[in-house]
Amino acid sequence: MKKEEKNEAMEKLVSLCKRRGFVFQGSEIYGGLAGTWDYGPYGVALRNNIKNLWWKKFVTDREDMYGVDAAILMNQNVWKASGHVAGFADPLVDDLKTKKRYRADHLLEDMGIDPKGMRVQEMDKLIKEKGIKSPDGNPLGEVRQFNMMFKTNVGATQDENSVSYLRPETAQGMFVNFKNIIDTFHPTLPFGLAQVGKAFRNEIAPRDFIFRLRELEQMEIEYFVSPEGWKETFEHFRKEMLDWTKEIGLQSGHVHELEIAPGDLAHYSKRTIDFEFDFPFGKKELYGLAYRTDFDLKSHSLASNVDLSYYDEEKKNRFVPHCIEPSFGVDRTFLAILSDAYTEDTLGDEPRTYLKFAPAVAPVKIAVFPLLKNKPVLVEKAREVYHMLKKQIGAVEFDDNGNIGKRYRRQDEIGTPYCVTIDFDTVEKDAGVTVRDRDSGKQERVKIEDLVSYLKF
Ligand code: GAP
Repeated sequence: MKKEEKNEAMEKLVSLCKRRGFVFQGSEIYGGLAGTWDYGPYGVALRNNIKNLWWKKFVTDREDMYGVDAAILMNQNVWKASGHVAGFADPLVDDLKTKKRYRADHLLEDMGIDPKGMRVQEMDKLIKEKGIKSPDGNPLGEVRQFNMMFKTNVGATQDENSVSYLRPETAQGMFVNFKNIIDTFHPTLPFGLAQVGKAFRNEIAPRDFIFRLRELEQMEIEYFVSPEGWKETFEHFRKEMLDWTKEIGLQSGHVHELEIAPGDLAHYSKRTIDFEFDFPFGKKELYGLAYRTDFDLKSHSLASNVDLSYYDEEKKNRFVPHCIEPSFGVDRTFLAILSDAYTEDTLGDEPRTYLKFAPAVAPVKIAVFPLLKNKPVLVEKAREVYHMLKKQIGAVEFDDNGNIGKRYRRQDEIGTPYCVTIDFDTVEKDAGVTVRDRDSGKQERVKIEDLVSYLKF
């Protein structure tokens, strides 16, 4: 795809999201706040479906997972021990004229240079050697590290002791609760902690809609194993993560695995696979799977003076468990689902746009219409069918606005798999309804009593 086509594809997605109430610019009436987006009613429904499906697959359907919901604000020592205060940084460079700030690695990438594994000094040297300028054509300053954590103060005093950070990953909320879970649930290894929640990163260059955010949401697992058991568990989650992408309807050809080179690994990781996705703006990271070794538990044990080891009753030995971490971004999942679902075709000689959502993630599963809005007998019957379906299926919408064609177009654009129309035959003849399939546009007559079993989700 050429750059203009990529931009056009993204513009179409952003515009549909706004037009149909999925995603709005954060603080829009004040001109926005970069790196923040607000989710509207259909966006919330899609996100909740993603999070609920994830929780079901990775927590409630298993016997070895423990859910936690830790505080976003944590003791600053957590981030010292985890290595984030010292090392959670991106390479930053200033445009010397406009004072705008850029990611040095992104500028190199834009020039066709692969920055993977490069140190700040190497990036700086390359930018100088190649005479790389800012996107506005101005000279650039020194490349330096910029810590991405949002710093704040807790309480009334503003000194070093009151410093806290908005968490940049949910992971640490689980490591610091490891002992609580051991002491209250006495699990046997292997077992995992799971958490869904917000994380915050002061990204230098938030971009690509909801891809690179300053306020994001993660779904993470810290799965604890014996030091010998990590490879098997890593392979298990690798498969589970790929299965997940299929379950939410992503095309398997659009998901790719990338083995991270040793020089590019995060400070805590001994092995990482990134799951990349073909977004409209290129192949980029969707999820990560990391072998964090015993780095985090050991670091917290050392820093807090609290024993975070595990006693194996069977083998009669004590050790610090190792950890496998499957990490998923909610917002990137949302964007991947949306970009794979976005479809333009022609139906009955009319061009149309629709979202081909897998039914499990669709914000609305069924829309119910009375054929005519001004015929009480049709409206009454349609309301009855609507309430019956809503009770059993939940995400059902009633729509009597505009003509049927217009209603189909609206439901297609929000990705509703089925539309059900109540007409005069429903009340006068056959107690049946017309069910229209979103993807094929085909219509079938189905008895009201058979509707729920006919509509498969
Ligand atoms: N606990 C490990 C961790 O946080 P990460 O690769 O930095 O690892 C995990 O982040 C996932 O969180 C990513 O794969 C992505 O889905 C999501 N993510 C990270 N930074 C993001 C950002 N700025 N905006 C949106 N999602 C982001």
